[in-house]
Amino acid sequence: MGGRLEGKRALVTGAASGLGRRIAERFTQEGARVLLTDIDARAGAAAAGALGQPFARLDVTAEADWAGAVAMAEQALGGLEILVNNAGVGPGGTVEDTSLETWRFCHAVNLDGTFLGCRAALPLMRATTARDGTLGAILNLSSIAGVIASANMAAYNSAKAAVRHLTKSVALHCARAGGRIRANSLHPAFIDTPILDNFRVPGLDRAGLLEKLGRQIPLGHVGEPDDVAFAAVYLCSDEAKFVTGAELFIDGGISAQ
Ligand SMILES: NC(=O)c1ccc[n+]([C@@H]2O[C@H](COP(=O)([O-])OP(=O)(O)OC[C@H]3O[C@@H](n4cnc5c(N)ncnc54)[C@H](O)[C@@H]3O)[C@@H](O)[C@H]2O)c1
Repeated sequence: MGGRLEGKRALVTGAASGLGRRIAERFTQEGARVLLTDIDARAGAAAAGALGQPFARLDVTAEADWAGAVAMAEQALGGLEILVNNAGVGPGGTVEDTSLETWRFCHAVNLDGTFLGCRAALPLMRATTARDGTLGAILNLSSIAGVIASANMAAYNSAKAAVRHLTKSVALHCARAGGRIRANSLHPAFIDTPILDNFRVPGLDRAGLLEKLGRQIPLGHVGEPDDVAFAAVYLCSDEAKFVTGAELFIDGGISAQ
């Protein structure tokens, strides 16, 4: 493998762990230069160091952090074609037992973070793609929970549904503004990363939890980070140059039912 993202310059949020980290790894293998970012500077710097890529601490809810990270992309990578808005949190709770604080936190990271990222990165992405004659892509991590609701994920359902629709607005805006940049959303079901700790059940170990979650999926098991990372490679590569405003489900068949 290799070369599907040759020459591309990418910024990935939440790249210290789970899906963001694996996406950064696959992008690197495919020839991209990647600025890994995360709110967790220690784990993020370690992940970037292992790949020989640069790191910037970025809290996606902070406007000033975004300005700094985009400036660093310009400085360290020489431009930017790809933005992956991956950072996210997944608090549980029904509408009745979700505090306003949790509601706002969930929307701040998942939704405001995605909005701020698109808004901050687009000027550099537009300038880079126009100057260098390259094509750009934004990829937003929504979730199958942004399309199919459950009783105990009120804030997460709401925030991820909004990410799905925001992505379509961004796609249409980018199409009108020259067409060199696309925007799409990804909708994974349960993937084996630390975020699944939110589903912890008393008396059930990690393996038992994965088995329980897997029973809800037609394919019979939870997904692995590469199931999402390979989709990210495709959607951010020029192989997908006619794909924008689309939503890709990586859900083991849940949404087919
Ligand atoms: N794993 C799944 O089952 C699954 C399913 C559907 C969607 N998703 C989505 O995929 C994305 C990645 O999730 P994951 O499974 O890798 O989770 P994870 O918990 O392993 O990783 C999330 C990363 O985001 C970082 N982060 C949290 N808040 C941040 C902030 N304010 N600014 C910057 N970084 C921040 C964390 O430090 C962490 O490194 C999330 O948006 C999540 O909602 C995950």
